[in-house]
Amino acid sequence: AFPGFGQRGDLTHGVVPPNRKDDIVIPNGYDQAVIIAWGDPVEEGAPKFDANKQSAAAQAKQFGYNNDYTMIVPLKDDRKALLVCNHEYTDENLMFPTGKYDAKTIAGIGLAAHGMSVVGIERVGRSGQWRRDKSGTRYNRRITATTKFDVVGPAAADPRVGKVAYGTFGNCAGGVTPWGTILSGEENFNGYYDVTGAVPAQYATSYKRYGVPTTVTKSAREWSIVDARFDLTTTPTEAFRSGWVVEVDPYDPKATPKKRTMLGRLKHEGATTTITADGRIAVYLGDDERGEYIYKFVSAGKYDENNRKANFGLLDEGTLYVARFTGDGTEDGLFDGTGQWIALTTDKKSFIDGMSVADVLIDTRLAADKVGATRMDRPEDIERNPVNGRVYAALTNNSNRGGTFAVDEANPLAKSHTRATLDGPLVEQSGNRNGYILELTEEGDDAARTSFFWTLFLVCGDPTAQETYFGGYDKTKVSPISCPDNVSFDGSGNLWISTDGNVLGSNDGIFTVPVAGPKRGQVKQFLSVPFGSEACGPLVSEDDKTAFVAVQHPGETDTATFENPSSTWPHTHPFPRPAISCVWRKDGARVGS
Ligand code: FEO
Ligand code: CA
Ligand code: CA
Ligand code: CA
Repeated sequence: AFPGFGQRGDLTHGVVPPNRKDDIVIPNGYDQAVIIAWGDPVEEGAPKFDANKQSAAAQAKQFGYNNDYTMIVPLKDDRKALLVCNHEYTDENLMFPTGKYDAKTIAGIGLAAHGMSVVGIERVGRSGQWRRDKSGTRYNRRITATTKFDVVGPAAADPRVGKVAYGTFGNCAGGVTPWGTILSGEENFNGYYDVTGAVPAQYATSYKRYGVPTTVTKSAREWSIVDARFDLTTTPTEAFRSGWVVEVDPYDPKATPKKRTMLGRLKHEGATTTITADGRIAVYLGDDERGEYIYKFVSAGKYDENNRKANFGLLDEGTLYVARFTGDGTEDGLFDGTGQWIALTTDKKSFIDGMSVADVLIDTRLAADKVGATRMDRPEDIERNPVNGRVYAALTNNSNRGGTFAVDEANPLAKSHTRATLDGPLVEQSGNRNGYILELTEEGDDAARTSFFWTLFLVCGDPTAQETYFGGYDKTKVSPISCPDNVSFDGSGNLWISTDGNVLGSNDGIFTVPVAGPKRGQVKQFLSVPFGSEACGPLVSEDDKTAFVAVQHPGETDTATFENPSSTWPHTHPFPRPAISCVWRKDGARVGS
């Protein structure tokens, strides 16, 4: 039933051992190259990168900081494509020579270094290597924390939000729609606001549920010194214009990007789409914080593959659901069970007592609290496997499971638990430190259905640790893996996982694992990213010839500074620069082989 598995799709690549090198480390037979790094010119007229001549105007045309989600969308000429990525946040300590710029200049550059980029790229010969397409800048675009957005969907009419918003920031993961637009999740938006006095009492419950400050607060970046809307005492509704999924059309550089309110307001990790059995669009959504929920949107209308523009409103009408997981008991030796998608609201009718449609979409967490949804361990990237149809979710970690949040079968590892041993009860401190990969199977393999089956496919960590589980595979033959964050698939349906915050002491990386066949659960490290960085992406090209990796925050450690960095990757300067690289097999064969 799984074409490709065990045939062309075998993961035969060499295993990269855990390490702390300040480089991308890849298996034998592979090569890699940086495509674009922080500060490289993107838009027409952008100046060459110079750390000593930074300005907001320059940065607004250059590649932003801390590239996260990365997607490649095709152009008619198959030697060319568009690279789209998120710039989640900034590391001011690593960006600016100490004392060189004043606070206002730094804030202005920070606003411009967030957001997204669209960049033309081209294939090198017939290989899996890609580089900048210097001849074609027609599509190149920067979106920043000040770009104008149209707010669309049911909450746009609410006075808390309104029809226009400025900028996107905290953009973490994302997805691509069948009509070729990019969805991007506004994640940790709450950390960008200052409070200089009071905030309206009627917003306090909502603010608190999202971690938005309610008392006098100076945020880390203090953007309100250059843009007053970031002071919630001045503009208290500004907090309601972030936390959305945004949609950008990379093929139309003049199109105003959209904030899609029907997808709810969360600390959105990402938004990935699939087509339901009857041709509608389903979007899977994670809310990345400890104890938050997994969501799904199903459109009312059907996808029209013959009329691109007919799909532009599909994400504004439909139903938003939240997931409840029920375990079937651990006597079977598996963390698994069934689940329900609980409807919170459609675009016309709320299912939550006392909350309007706009209330549910603006305070989606508060709505989900009322329906008995399951609190998960940092639900991050969630994506449907195009080969086996199952949905895979990264649950990064939760050091406080069993404390603030009760243990259940879908979130089984408590921060301290008692285990029976031959010598009597033993209290162990473990908790979900290393994360899980959840495998969810929609009933009838149809994303429009409201019930599902689930199992924890991976309980990550050091495979010698008792609690880890690798899909039932032999644990002496797998790579240690910690803190899965993003997931994607190659053309054979193998799962590719990137990690964020490895607590096993080595650098983050990208890991491969078959999800079917005799090697189901055989996790192997495919690459590691430079010291102090997080592996984002990952992305395997449509032709399986290239793996793309976004190296986010290289050298980000507690004490590192511009002058004393803990990484200098990609080794173009004496300080680190976040960048996107591609990895390919020197012989041109499929990546992963
Ligand atoms: Fe931005 Fe959920 O990591
Ligand atoms: Ca992430
Ligand atoms: Ca079970
Ligand atoms: Ca992350």
